[in-house]
Amino acid sequence: MEALLLLLAFASLANARDTLTPTQPLLHNQTLVSRTQIFELGFFTPTNSNKWYLGIWFHKIPTQTPIWVANRETPLPKSSSGVLIINNYGHLSLFNQTRHVIWSSNGGSASGGAKNPIVRLLDNGNLVVVESESAKSDDPNGYFWQSYDYPSDTLLDGMKMGWDLGTGLNRKLTSWKSLSDPSMGDFVYELDRRGLPEMVLRNGSAKLFRTGPWNGFQFSGTPEVKNNSIFKPVFVSNDEELYFLSVSNDESVISRLYLSPLGVICRLTWNERVSDWIVTINVQKDMCNRYGLCGVYGICNVDEPVLCKCLNGFVPNSPDDWSRVDWSGGCRRRKDLECDKGGDDGFQKLSFVKVPDSTFSWVNESMSLGECQVKCLKNCSCTAYANFDIRGSGSGCVLWFDDLIDLREFSAGGGQDLYVRLAASELVIAGVQEAGSKKKKRPVVVIASVTVIIGTLLIGTILWCLIERAKSRQRDQTRSNLLSWKKRFDIINGIALGLLYLHRDSRLRIIHRDLKAANVLLDMEMNPKISDFGLARIFGGDETEANTRRVVGTYGYMSPEYAADGLFSMKSDVFSFGVLILEIVSGKRNKGFYHPGNDFNLLGHAWNLWNEDRALELVDEVVVMEDKLSGFEVLRYIHVGLLCVQQRPDDRPTMPSVVMMFGGDCANFPQPRQPGFYYERSFMDEGPSSSEKFSSGNKVSFTQLEGR
Ligand SMILES: *[C@@H]1O[C@H](CO)[C@@H](O)[C@H](O)[C@H]1NC(C)=O
Ligand SMILES: *[C@@H]1O[C@H](CO)[C@@H](O)[C@H](O)[C@H]1NC(C)=O
Ligand SMILES: *[C@@H]1O[C@H](CO)[C@@H](O)[C@H](O)[C@H]1NC(C)=O
Ligand SMILES: *[C@@H]1O[C@H](CO)[C@@H](O)[C@H](O)[C@H]1NC(C)=O
Ligand SMILES: *[C@@H]1O[C@H](CO)[C@@H](O)[C@H](O)[C@H]1NC(C)=O
Ligand SMILES: *[C@@H]1O[C@H](CO)[C@@H](O)[C@H](O)[C@H]1NC(C)=O
Repeated sequence: MEALLLLLAFASLANARDTLTPTQPLLHNQTLVSRTQIFELGFFTPTNSNKWYLGIWFHKIPTQTPIWVANRETPLPKSSSGVLIINNYGHLSLFNQTRHVIWSSNGGSASGGAKNPIVRLLDNGNLVVVESESAKSDDPNGYFWQSYDYPSDTLLDGMKMGWDLGTGLNRKLTSWKSLSDPSMGDFVYELDRRGLPEMVLRNGSAKLFRTGPWNGFQFSGTPEVKNNSIFKPVFVSNDEELYFLSVSNDESVISRLYLSPLGVICRLTWNERVSDWIVTINVQKDMCNRYGLCGVYGICNVDEPVLCKCLNGFVPNSPDDWSRVDWSGGCRRRKDLECDKGGDDGFQKLSFVKVPDSTFSWVNESMSLGECQVKCLKNCSCTAYANFDIRGSGSGCVLWFDDLIDLREFSAGGGQDLYVRLAASELVIAGVQEAGSKKKKRPVVVIASVTVIIGTLLIGTILWCLIERAKSRQRDQTRSNLLSWKKRFDIINGIALGLLYLHRDSRLRIIHRDLKAANVLLDMEMNPKISDFGLARIFGGDETEANTRRVVGTYGYMSPEYAADGLFSMKSDVFSFGVLILEIVSGKRNKGFYHPGNDFNLLGHAWNLWNEDRALELVDEVVVMEDKLSGFEVLRYIHVGLLCVQQRPDDRPTMPSVVMMFGGDCANFPQPRQPGFYYERSFMDEGPSSSEKFSSGNKVSFTQLEGR
């Protein structure tokens, strides 16, 4: 160990290098920087953590963004230090202060081979062990070990995700446990090679999302992930390897695929101007990408007013309710297959579909579609078939034997053809395109179609009348009630941007102190404007908080620390904003809120529903009926609202993070804690007088700005 100490002293002389040799360890206060200064390797501490981790991050980006972590499960205590060493055999080891190995590179093809091994941080973010003589480090065949083989939660362009079939190495993304804890979280995103190979996101053993199989150009279930100005997706399948990879189309753009601690996969791009990461692709925002949303034999289409429907020839397992939000019960056959009874079955052709989960499917890569159909028909438990590869005129055969799940339909462009088995008689009644069945009875088809059309019109008219009646009943009410979700979200986003401007972007830091519905003006296009700066205060320099003995504001919107102690800050404005979000989503005022069955104000009511997983019940019923399901988006707003109204100012997000959260689930999204003024109805009513300006009634009111 003397030798080690000697080395340590020697090493501290060097700096800003991109390699380590066996005689040059990396101390806790040193870093490696890649040749053109894109990446940096060293010890870091995540936000809100008190541990050291060895990791790689972008050298030039001010927001610390680790893309790889070595000792995820074995951090160093903040008060101690560590050292990274490469030995003469090419093994990397991380020692803690008491010289115990807490992480090492064992497991790669590292061991043996290298004569004079060095470790080098490359400009693509790969940390590689190579022979020191090899002047060039860009030949992967010369790597004895590489960090690219052990991804954390980030995939850079050029990094492979998938299998080395020879060694069984599976490169996959694993989420961090939380933003402050890089240890393995619940979520794994990997290339599943059972059935048709595809990318799959799992939470433990439960599937959350699948991309659909590669169709030769892109993953068939995510047509938005395609060759663009930033990157090009590539899928490689041969005898040795099976992997997915993105290739950068523009080296000047910094971009990455990221699996967040909440299990959301996003493509993020660094934006110099706002100095932040911008979410450019989040495929899970598309509700049809929720695994199994429509249950077995259900099919999802985002372009339809109701997301889910049963495949032709199938009926809902539970009574069909047109407004239902939970389709997980799925569908069943209207008529049993006839194969078992020696009768005829046929196939219904579906086009532009993301094929069902094929984990347990049978695959032959060279059969023709015709042979495939014959093979399926012969086996009574075969439920569907499709081509394996759709390039050219299509090739290969996939057979399904289970209930079909996680299908979706694209209006055009995505997906492929799928042939679903139905009883021959069913094919005739449904009037669907048939294959494999000989019988044809067109007149029945026409009659059935006409009946369906008339029925649809009739039901549509009745529903329209019902909705119109509901609407006209609502007309005392304030017009806010008639705002669609889209409009509500726009208003919330508009207010957030206004407040962001006051807090951050304006030359002066302005605390509004009286943010409420009545102070939000809507112009003719319903664009919100924050008004009435009568109580606003300007903060200078480093001032973040101030105290006043004259508490003026509006009850129901005032944060606890302001109402009780006269303390105001940006976080007290954030509280008021949170109240506004919950009011806009629910269509109810916080003050004077009444809900049969509980004594809580709106915040307490929302918090209770949130904890009982019933948060969607908070929303305005009329709007729920009007719009197509926006539930997941609505939940996001309720979540942010609850974060903003938390009791402790420090727990509340800042306006920049609020705006980030609206942007996508890849942003920091902690669980909310108890709101301030949770059950304080009596306290509020007994409080000192205020500049209350609301008209009576239990609805949110905005002020309409006329003639602008
Ligand atoms: C880095 O740490 C070593 C040992 O802990 C110390 O001797 C050296 O002075 C430090 N270097 C800098 C630049 O702080
Ligand atoms: C170093 O690691 C060993 C083994 O994990 C542990 O027992 C020891 O307490 C650690 N030392 C420090 C200073 O953390
Ligand atoms: C992940 O699984 C855990 C445990 O089963 C569950 O509590 C959690 O809600 C799941 N999260 C998601 C996003 O599905
Ligand atoms: C991919 O997109 C880029 C930029 O949009 C374009 O220049 C390039 O030709 C495309 N490549 C392919 C193979 O389509
Ligand atoms: C796939 O099908 C072809 C043509 O029918 C056949 O020759 C081949 O043996 C099959 N391969 C496998 C693995 O079943
Ligand atoms: C039908 O296919 C299933 C699944 O591959 C298989 O277990 C079963 O033996 C087959 N039945 C017949 C009659 O070939």
